[in-house]
Amino acid sequence: MPASVRTAVIPAAGLGTRLLPATKAMPKEMLTVVDRPSIQWVVEEAIAAGIDDIVIITSPHKKALEDHFDRMAELEAALEAKGKQEMLGSVRHITDLATFHFTRQGAPLGLGHAVGTAARHVRNEPFAVLLPDELLPDGGQTLSRMIEVAEATGESVISLVPVEGPEICNYGCAGFSEREGNVIKVDRLVEKPTFEDAPSNLRITGRYVLTPDIFEKLERTEPGRGGEIQLTDAMALQIDDRGMRGLVVDDAGFDAGQKADWLRANVELSLRGDDGAEVAAMLRAALESNGF
Ligand code: UTP
Repeated sequence: MPASVRTAVIPAAGLGTRLLPATKAMPKEMLTVVDRPSIQWVVEEAIAAGIDDIVIITSPHKKALEDHFDRMAELEAALEAKGKQEMLGSVRHITDLATFHFTRQGAPLGLGHAVGTAARHVRNEPFAVLLPDELLPDGGQTLSRMIEVAEATGESVISLVPVEGPEICNYGCAGFSEREGNVIKVDRLVEKPTFEDAPSNLRITGRYVLTPDIFEKLERTEPGRGGEIQLTDAMALQIDDRGMRGLVVDDAGFDAGQKADWLRANVELSLRGDDGAEVAAMLRAALESNGF
């Protein structure tokens, strides 16, 4: 496993307005997908890609995130006393695999601002950023490959998926000048372009491997769209300075930050799990009894 990227930054300080009312008091990153909070899927992905140092950017009212990744002596003792070894293992598993750090963003001033709060922890090394509402349960394959490309080129790397037609208008989009296999040389980033102006059909997903000069560029980045400090604006400065690569992948994963896709994540990941056959039977029965 490449040793150059050891840290993952997971920004989780947003307001989660698209999932209200569920997210009024409960952080959206703690909403359950199958049997665990969505942020745990993302942490497990980072760990599978060889990362063992996790920085989670939080905000007031999101203490549940810290508690979830902390040891809970009382619960562990109770499970041990009752001989519930499997449950005990599942509770301990995640805290044992990585070191967790928490940084407060203070106010939700944008994704770029959130990533910037990790500067003092990350210092001078390339690092990964994983958005916790985008689930990519591929055993860390995409992130591992991104790390390899970052190592080989010394540039930041983003992951991209092709989308159909005007769908690109809802996303960040990357233009490119060269392509070798599924690796492109990014020459521009455009947030939510019009269909006519989109430089490609490749949308930016929630996985980044960034070189540490991003922090100095974030400091120079003025608030952009929506009054927020945008990560893509600072990344655009990296393109001019040292270049940027994109890894084109087929699997878009799930956008668990919006209702329909959160539900799809639950259904599809349940079908892929140990109880898949049972879930399929339940879905068939539910469809039939509801007249579908
Ligand atoms: P989103 O825009 O998807 O999250 O940001 P949000 O703002 O919480 O959700 P909506 O749009 O209101 O429903 C992507 C990720 O960046 C984090 C969010 O927590 C989310 O995981 N984020 C966003 C921050 O940490 N800080 C910010 O200021 C903005």
